[in-house]
Amino acid sequence: MAPWPFDTPERRAAAHTTMTEVVLPTDTNHYGTIFGGRLLDLMDRVAWLTASRFCHLNFVTASVDRITFDAPIKEGHIIELVGDVTEVRVHSLAVRVMATGEDPLSGRRWHCSGGTFYMVCVDRTGRPISLHQGPVVQDNG
Ligand SMILES: CC(C)(COP(=O)(O)OP(=O)(O)OC[C@H]1O[C@@H](n2cnc3c(N)ncnc32)[C@H](O)[C@@H]1OP(=O)(O)O)[C@@H](O)C(=O)NCCC(=O)NCCS
Repeated sequence: MAPWPFDTPERRAAAHTTMTEVVLPTDTNHYGTIFGGRLLDLMDRVAWLTASRFCHLNFVTASVDRITFDAPIKEGHIIELVGDVTEVRVHSLAVRVMATGEDPLSGRRWHCSGGTFYMVCVDRTGRPISLHQGPVVQDNG
């Protein structure tokens, strides 16, 4: 399918989202490394932010595809999450989220985790709507 007219490199670039956090004791499991559920939480937030910035509509997470936890991140280390739109569909976006660990003392960085989040565009009542309607001013208050 041809990309929607608003699926431009500029819009994808504007949606590119980075979130950086320190891993605190409340984020970790009994091994002293980040808890998988906490990492999923952060990744889901980044996926929503990325989708929202892409076209400024409301999104919900419909599904997550093949998240892998490839390397641990310890308490006191930095976690950086990066989200990018990788596919634009009719009512939904695919957002790839990657997580990188960083030792703040040495600066060493390593790949930690990755996965694809499918974000569905919805109206106020939670029903799917087309992305193709273009920017709509919505009041979330
Ligand atoms: C996501 C949700 C709105 C889809 O509603 P639905 O009526 O089943 O959707 P439809 O079958 O009409 O499909 C609408 C779009 O959703 C996509 N979709 C639906 N289920 C999906 C799934 N499991 N994974 C990926 N995409 C999905 C469809 O592919 C379609 O998008 P497309 O036209 O761009 O391909 C609905 O299942 C829902 O509200 N789920 C709960 C969401 C939620 O609470 N998330 C956690 C908090 S954000």
